[in-house]
This record gives sequence, structure tokens and C-alpha cells, in this order.
Amino acid sequence: MDQLTEYGNFGLEDLDDCVVDDTSNGRFEVSRRMFEDPELFELEMEHIFGKTWVYLGHESQVANPHDYQTSRIGQQPVLITRDEQGKIHAFLNSCPHRGAELVGERRGNKKTMMCAFHGWVFSSDGRCLDVNEADAGGYPDQFINQNHDLLALARVEVYGGFIFGSLNPDVDDLKTHLGGAAKIIDMLADQSEEGMELLKGGIRYTSRSNWKLQLENIDGYHFFPTHLSYIGLIQRRMDKGGDDDVKAIDARQMEEAPGGNYDFGNGHMMDWVYMPNGDERPLAFQRDRIEKEFGEPGARWMIDHVRNLMLYPNVLLMDQSSSTVRMVHPISVDETLVEVYCIAPKGEPAEARLRRVRQFEDFLGPAGLATPDDQALFEKCQRGLKGQKRGWLQGYARGMERLTPGPDEAAREVDIQPVVSGGDINDETLIHGSYRQWLQLMREGLEAV
Ligand code: FES
Ligand code: FE
Repeated sequence: MDQLTEYGNFGLEDLDDCVVDDTSNGRFEVSRRMFEDPELFELEMEHIFGKTWVYLGHESQVANPHDYQTSRIGQQPVLITRDEQGKIHAFLNSCPHRGAELVGERRGNKKTMMCAFHGWVFSSDGRCLDVNEADAGGYPDQFINQNHDLLALARVEVYGGFIFGSLNPDVDDLKTHLGGAAKIIDMLADQSEEGMELLKGGIRYTSRSNWKLQLENIDGYHFFPTHLSYIGLIQRRMDKGGDDDVKAIDARQMEEAPGGNYDFGNGHMMDWVYMPNGDERPLAFQRDRIEKEFGEPGARWMIDHVRNLMLYPNVLLMDQSSSTVRMVHPISVDETLVEVYCIAPKGEPAEARLRRVRQFEDFLGPAGLATPDDQALFEKCQRGLKGQKRGWLQGYARGMERLTPGPDEAAREVDIQPVVSGGDINDETLIHGSYRQWLQLMREGLEAV
């Protein structure tokens, strides 16, 4: 690799400069170029965000007829709606007239949506109802006969309440795409017989860092060094008897607790660790019901295990300190918009809800004790990555010696079906899957050009 070569005119052969996937010879390496080449970023938007399933939102955000919620597929604005009949739709949030963003606010409820620019009106199922003064507009037949509806995404499907969309009509069905990761979604979606809901007051922040760094945030390896001040605070709370109203995870005991990580294919991956004080979790208020329905191992996996699931390429479902849905929206090669919601079982006891919200604020809120640590480190990475163009990173080797194909013993206990199992929550091998998927989608895209 020539460290003096400038970026530009990225082609198929340049993929060799990005990821080396050769675990049988002890190598899995990612290049610094992956995080700082603007041309590569544009290709990612086309070949990754333009080709695969992308998480858009949760059905609770459009719970009622005529509810709408804005979202994104990469840089492209998206509008999710529920129509009069209750059907969920997803459109590009762009007026067909002159392209203005149709809906500017994050969410709302309107039977019809009017574009603020020239007043065209659309129904919640995307039909253009009025092009404003059509009769007197002197429009030619060609225009009158044109379709003025909102552009629907090529595919929209819902799994466990989570809404996904794709710009690619030929993408596999969503369940096939999710593979073994669907089972982990079930562990969240099944927490209430009434379904789950995203709590109002989602958090948005931008990070001066590349979007792929956000996906790596499920890595357990960083937890103790990065969140040292948080762990110190928990220590002090516990030393005082732990009678605070947050009841955070007892991180002190987690270092020795059993855990692992799974690669589900298609870029989806997770890690998990046993949580010694599971009874402090909001879901523990429902332990009897959950044990009855899912058995002891099922309840343990749902209540007593931290589970951090990353669905490639843009959402992290983290059931740990509180339960969160974290969306990752790439803005540019070195800027990412992050959107975070607390997710909760509908109808959970008030005490459980209070604890869930307190834990969310404590660890994951904008003024929480973990999120700012993570973002500060990602921004440090982005600055540091400029230090050596095209140098390989050494960050993906931990745990390579303990990879095993298929499910390990813990996974078999509740029929989790990963492609590969890793033995420790701190293993960096859990990140391999996302870069493998990156490589595959980029190769397919570049070959088709
Ligand atoms: Fe929407 Fe003109 S841009 S009505
Ligand atoms: Fe972190």
C-alpha cells in the first residue's frame, strides 16, 4: 500500500486498500481510509444505504391513522405515515413540484399534508390531492397526466414493530435479511403483550465522526477505560447502599460475568453479558409473566442479559442500562447524526417506567454519563485517523483465537442461530461482520457499474 497516494477515482481494486478479511491467517484489518475518504462516503451512500434494508422507525411513532414521522435513508429525507386504513407507508420526504422537504417537523398527525412552498396537498397514503389552482394554471396535458404523488420507497416491511425500508426493489424479504438477529429482536418485542413503544422526547446529536464508528459502539472492550468516571460513580452509589432511584447495572461485577458475541451474517452482530443485579432492571417487574411464557432460560436472556444488537447499517437496539433504539444517519464522511429513543413495554408498571427513564437519562441521555464519553472518543478517533493516510488499524484482532462456527452453548440454550460465535463480550471479532458486509455490498455495487 502506497501511503503517499492521494485518494480519488475509487475502483474495485481499491477495496483491497480498505478491508483485509483473512482470519484463517490471523488477519482482519481495516484501513484508516475507510473513515476519511469523501469519495468512498458517496459510494457508501449509493451501494450500501441505497441497496440494503435501512431502519426507519418504530410503529409506535405512527400509532394512529394520519400520524407521520420523519426519518432518513443515509442523506435522503424519508417520511413514514400511517394512512386512514392503518397501513404504514414510507416516502421520500420531498415534494415532486420543486423538491422542497414536505414535512419539516419530526412527527405529527395530519389528514393531509400541504407543502409550504406552493401549497400542493398530499394525503397520508401519499396521493397528491391538489396541485393548487390546477384549473386556472394553464398546465399542458403532459403535466396534467403526470403522476404527482409522493415517491414511495421500493420496499417497506415491519418486523416486531420495527419499520424498515429499502430503495432497492430486489432486496431479500426483511425476515431473510435479519436472519438469526430476528430472535434477538423478539427478546425486545416480546416484553409486553401490548407491544413496545418509543417514549417521547427522543434525543438527537451530531458527532464529528464517521458513521461506521457509531456501529462499533457495541464493543464491550471500550467500556471500562472509556466509562471509568461512570463506573466510579456507580461504585460510590453502591458504597452508599445503592438506595438511589436509578439502580444502574452493577458494572463492578460484570468483568467476571459470562458473556459472548454473535455474528448473524448480513452485517448484523451482537454482544451480551450476564448482569448480576438483573432484579434492578425495569423488566424484572414482569419476571413471573415472562418466566411463565418463555421459560427460565428465555427470561434470563430477556431480563438478566445485557444485549447490544447492531442491525447493519444503521440501528443499535441496546437492552442494557435502560432499553434504547439508536439510529445512525450519515451526514458526511466526518459527520453523523445520531437519534436515540428509550423503548419500553406498553402498559408496564409505573415504578418500572420511572426506573427505565432514570436509567436512560443516567447512562444514555445527552447529559448522561456514558454517551458524551463515547462521542468524545469517536471524535478523537476521527481526528487521530488523519494521522496516517492509508495505514491499517490494529483494532480487530482481540478474540480471533476463540471464534467458533455456529451457535455456542449459551446460544443453543434459547435457539439463537448465529453464523459465528465469539467467547467474550470484549472481543473485537464481533465487529468483523459489519466490515464483511461493507465489503460485499461495495463489491456488488462496484461490479455492477
Ligand atoms: Fe412543493 Fe412547490 S415545492 S408545492
Ligand atoms: Fe460506551
